[in-house]
Amino acid sequence: VQEKSFIMIKPDGIHRGLIADIIKRFEAKGYKLVAIKVMVPSKDLASKHYEEHAQRPFYPGLVTFLSSGPVVAMVWEGKDVIKYGRKMIGATNPLASTPGTIRGDYGIDVGRNIIHGSDSVESAQREIALWFGAGELAEYDLAM
Ligand code: CMP
Repeated sequence: VQEKSFIMIKPDGIHRGLIADIIKRFEAKGYKLVAIKVMVPSKDLASKHYEEHAQRPFYPGLVTFLSSGPVVAMVWEGKDVIKYGRKMIGATNPLASTPGTIRGDYGIDVGRNIIHGSDSVESAQREIALWFGAGELAEYDLAM
């Protein structure tokens, strides 16, 4: 199915210099970049983004970390991009993720796992609406 996913390079990914590599992977796969921005998220935005984890012991640290530096927030569009994008990203814990995935290639710590990707259609819609305004998503065809 044609769908959109919210994909975000977290502060550790920026500090590691992985922006171009990550964009290259999604672009090379055939996905379409329809929104992108760099920002330092407020604590409020970071809290809302991770609200489903509010009861977890790692939540305060997670929110502090996300709002500690710049992120690259993106929306990628294409066939099965939510599920396949998560396959490209790899398992949440980088040590459990397969080599060849983003986390498998570059990470070692679950709290510094480089990138976030929506895990369902519902969370993609919620996250896209949280991070972007309706007018910030481009509509276009990739010429073939
Ligand atoms: P993400 O896919 O962005 O979604 C939730 C995040 O919580 C996850 O990536 C991890 O960065 C973080 N996380 C999950 N489990 C733990 C944990 N046990 N300790 C610290 N951070 C965690």
